[in-house]
Amino acid sequence: MFASAAIAMAHHRIVLQGTRSSRCGALSFRQMQIMMMQSPCRIGNHQPPGMSVKYHAHHVSCLTMSTYASNKCLPVLIDLRSDTLTQPTEKIRQSLVQAQTGDDVYHEDNEVKALETAMAQLLGHEASLFVPSGTMANLLAVMTHCQKRGSEVLLGHKSHMFRWSQGNIAQIAGVHSNALTNMPDGTFCLNELQTRIQADDEHCPITSLICIENTHCDTGGTILNLPWLRELRAMSTKYNIPVHVDGARLLNAAVGLKIPPSELVRGFESVQVCLSKGVGAPFGSILAGTKRFVTQARRYRKAIGGGVRQNGFMARAGLCALEDWEMKLQRDHEHAKLIAQGVESIGSGQVRLLTESVDSNIVLLRTKCVSPEKIVSRLKRITPDEGESLEGSIAVRCAPLEKDVIRLVTSCNQSTEDIKLAVKKLQFVIMELLKM
Ligand SMILES: Cc1ncc(COP(=O)(O)O)c(C=O)c1O
Repeated sequence: MFASAAIAMAHHRIVLQGTRSSRCGALSFRQMQIMMMQSPCRIGNHQPPGMSVKYHAHHVSCLTMSTYASNKCLPVLIDLRSDTLTQPTEKIRQSLVQAQTGDDVYHEDNEVKALETAMAQLLGHEASLFVPSGTMANLLAVMTHCQKRGSEVLLGHKSHMFRWSQGNIAQIAGVHSNALTNMPDGTFCLNELQTRIQADDEHCPITSLICIENTHCDTGGTILNLPWLRELRAMSTKYNIPVHVDGARLLNAAVGLKIPPSELVRGFESVQVCLSKGVGAPFGSILAGTKRFVTQARRYRKAIGGGVRQNGFMARAGLCALEDWEMKLQRDHEHAKLIAQGVESIGSGQVRLLTESVDSNIVLLRTKCVSPEKIVSRLKRITPDEGESLEGSIAVRCAPLEKDVIRLVTSCNQSTEDIKLAVKKLQFVIMELLKM
């Protein structure tokens, strides 16, 4: 029984031994981190099952689940804070060595050209541009679509562009934001949109762009429904206002609906897709549109310092990560559903799913009575006595999103076994805190 944790580290092995007379109580996350940094131990975010795992991020050697089974005393950490935390697989790391790079600012990097061509095709656009981040891609889209002074963008109040980008479209591009209320499914009311399009009046800003987000992160990775997208397209055409899609997770939406990504953006003027999220690449985003749009965005990219020279290394990594994107994202979605089912099976009204269903790789939990911070903090601690119930030492990291909402995100470094362990810990902690 794990009643105390006497930590013996010998020859790079951690052993947690339980005796009732422990002076340790719970292991703090920091203690676990130190243990993990000093010795090989199990960390949840490893490569897909079946692959041999030998990456050494933060000097941690990661053992596979089969190793976990025979080393149940080793703590396991499953990090569900974000899909940006993915570590490149061995295959991606190897692909870097093979990259044939040139200077991309001189248009001489064939790896970058190959990625841009492939992504333009996947998204059904004439051309695309490889940029360092999703934030930069969205900013460039706004700068390119809104070239008149006094321009404004219509966008959702829960969108990443409005909420989490430091107001960069005002700060850097000088563009005004006009926010519409996002519905729980990530859309906004199109009648309201219509009323917000400004008349030609010298008192008002010039409505120059509509931005949407698909999947919609802060409503729980929701996929925007196709009839709504069609209606939006008709309206934007009627008013002659371009639409930009923040598709940081557009590929998740395509997998969720089992349709090509190009179907989701057809008729919209531009789209950005992050490679550094579920796809598992270490870097970069793609901004796609017409050739004219991309040429102008490329000019602005240089102005804001986004021209990267031997960017072929990162482009090759992106191409490699994209090889099996559908399979990876499909698995992430299944994992998110496992988490949702695990929490719902507790049957508590106090901690439950915020959304009706889980569309993609993001799970939002609404908490009553217990604060998100308390749950998040307890999930990442391992107490001596929980080892017996959980048959091991499991720590889970996730993030509070709102005052009563917790966010958990699945990604390609987690195996199904990791997710099952995370579910066990979630159920244990929720029942403990709710005294069930
Ligand atoms: C919906 C959405 N758009 C844009 C971004 C920005 O991407 P990046 O972190 O690559 O700048 C994020 C990042 O989390 C996001 O979730």
